[in-house]
Amino acid sequence: MGNNGKKRCTIWAVAGGKGGTGKTFVINNIAIQLAARNLKTILVDADFGGPNVHTYFGVKPGPRSLTDFFEKNVPLKEVVTPTALDHLHIIPGNVNCFASEGMKHTQKSKFLRHVRTLESDYVLLDLGGGVGVNTIDTFLVADKMILVLAPESTAIENLYHFIKNIYFRKLKTLLGLHGLRHIAHEKWKERQTNRVQDIRGLIESLREQEPEACLLITEELARFRVYLVLNQVRNEKQISIGFSLRSICAKYLGIETEFVGYVEHDAMFWQNINLEHPYVHFWKSPRLTDGIGRLTDNLIEGRQFRGGRVPA
Ligand SMILES: Nc1ncnc2c1ncn2[C@@H]1O[C@H](COP(=O)(O)OP(=O)(O)OP(=O)(O)O)[C@@H](O)[C@H]1O
Ligand SMILES: [Mg+2]
Repeated sequence: MGNNGKKRCTIWAVAGGKGGTGKTFVINNIAIQLAARNLKTILVDADFGGPNVHTYFGVKPGPRSLTDFFEKNVPLKEVVTPTALDHLHIIPGNVNCFASEGMKHTQKSKFLRHVRTLESDYVLLDLGGGVGVNTIDTFLVADKMILVLAPESTAIENLYHFIKNIYFRKLKTLLGLHGLRHIAHEKWKERQTNRVQDIRGLIESLREQEPEACLLITEELARFRVYLVLNQVRNEKQISIGFSLRSICAKYLGIETEFVGYVEHDAMFWQNINLEHPYVHFWKSPRLTDGIGRLTDNLIEGRQFRGGRVPA
């Protein structure tokens, strides 16, 4: 609760990995699915490097965007822009973009504070492909962290490293909160003599000195979860890639990953699209709505992919 007794919005964010895997495409479609379930949804284009959510929804850039929030101190709720779909609003990106990594810590905190107070059931953040600390820290505050994977070897490798990076960032933040960052850093530097092999080993090595803090950190890390969407699937065989990445993350990083579903590649997407009203195509393509509908339900319920239509 909080927020003057109003229910806090649920924040989902998409980020990570290689450009062009379909992050914007997937989060836009998820937003449409949530709105279709009568859940009030605000989609925020927080890809500071290349905002393009407005294009998908046929919303012309301006009159209001994140630029007004960052540069003119306009409250975030005032840049919420309607779309042609019921229950779905967007916050257009910062078209006069400055790189997100140039954003000051205070701006990032203010942005997150405002996002939390938006009056909506869901707030979805499209964070783009950045790997800088501002992007990662924003991603880490989401209630659900969604990653979009394309079935290509470089994209898989890339995403694995991204997951590792955000996990380390989370750990560093937790160590910092408990005043253990310095000592952990020393232990890690001397990991051969301390026989520390991985993150679990590192926390174990601090346990004797700081048992309470280590318990809290362990509990917090156990809650760390990423949600995986496989996009641009062209055949049934590719679906197993979602499960493979899940196993790799569990085996090598000890991280829980939920593979929530896949989206087929729709070769007709841009051919069929009406640039004035692009979302119409999202609705009409059963190839897309079927897969995204299922994975949206899985995300709401926090459960794994349970099978679906087999790509032709
Ligand atoms: N399942 C799909 N079927 C057909 N086209 C798709 C699909 N997913 C994505 N695309 C297309 O691929 C292109 C890249 O997608 P998108 O812009 O969503 O990628 P992105 O991951 O957000 O990229 P960036 O990292 O640059 O933000 C777009 O033209 C998009 O419409
Ligand atoms: Mg994008």
